[in-house]
Amino acid sequence: MPVSKRHRLQSWARACGLGLLLIGGVTVQAQSNPTPSPQSARDQCEKSFKPSTGQPGKDVVWVPTNDALVTRMLEMAKVGKNDLVYDLGAGDGKIAIAAAKQFGARAVGVEYNPDMAQLAQCMVRAEGVTEKVNVIQGDIFETDFSKASVVTLYLLPELNMRLRPTLLKMRPGTRVVSHSFLMDDWRPDESSVSTDGAAYLWIVPADVAGKWTFKQQGGKDSFDVELTQTFQKLSGTAGKGKEEITNAEMRGNRIEMMFSEGDVHTRVVGQLTGDRIEADVTRNDKSSTYIGTRR
Ligand SMILES: C[S@@+](CC[C@H](N)C(=O)[O-])C[C@H]1O[C@@H](n2cnc3c(N)ncnc32)[C@H](O)[C@@H]1O
Repeated sequence: MPVSKRHRLQSWARACGLGLLLIGGVTVQAQSNPTPSPQSARDQCEKSFKPSTGQPGKDVVWVPTNDALVTRMLEMAKVGKNDLVYDLGAGDGKIAIAAAKQFGARAVGVEYNPDMAQLAQCMVRAEGVTEKVNVIQGDIFETDFSKASVVTLYLLPELNMRLRPTLLKMRPGTRVVSHSFLMDDWRPDESSVSTDGAAYLWIVPADVAGKWTFKQQGGKDSFDVELTQTFQKLSGTAGKGKEEITNAEMRGNRIEMMFSEGDVHTRVVGQLTGDRIEADVTRNDKSSTYIGTRR
């Protein structure tokens, strides 16, 4: 048999898992050694340590998030291949693994229980995502997760509150998704409640509080704004008459607000970088670019 044809047959035999070897035209039965399926590799992992729902953890017990809710949480956070997802209290690693397998992201799971952390790392190997996912054994309150672009949580309200100051100091635009539990008066930007459970999304807001002057680019118009900020919610005044601003909020670095002076209605939608906002300002249906600077 020509060599090229033999190679093609060998490749096909391998792909079909037939365990056939074709050597010099003679067919012999080879030792069958198929790659184990992710499920049987996962079963192997659980032979070393099989967790049980409700088992104690350092600050909270282990209960896995169901698959449908894991996907929904990651969808709410719009996870993509450029993201670095941290699951704080990673359990068997399922959120970190899903972030990599379903959304192409890199992910880190932080799990305190050494047996769980080892199991999660084994699951990462079983699912073939070792290049994208790492599980570290450690305490979420002593781990630096400041590089994350997405943080996922399934903890408890009081643990969310302990993490809240750290989360609020993260890069503006960082998405935080929590299964079941809220963060007191930091209201979520989005909620999704269904029979699979509740998931909440927060987007870390940039700091925009203070006095700003907006000047029209290539024009003469300008107006002043004074902003007070409570998490993503903004209040304050704008214009010469210090009119109250409405519909005002931060979503990461994106600012949106409105105010009216008599029958002149102004809508501002902008992007904040440090002490500068580049904004699309619509005044009575005419739009132009304004640059806001913090005074
Ligand atoms: C409710 S489970 C959630 C598991 C996983 N994130 C999920 O949603 O499927 C919480 C996990 O946090 C772990 N844990 C508890 N306190 C921790 C701490 N201080 N640091 C790291 N992990 C912790 C527990 O061992 C448990 O596996």
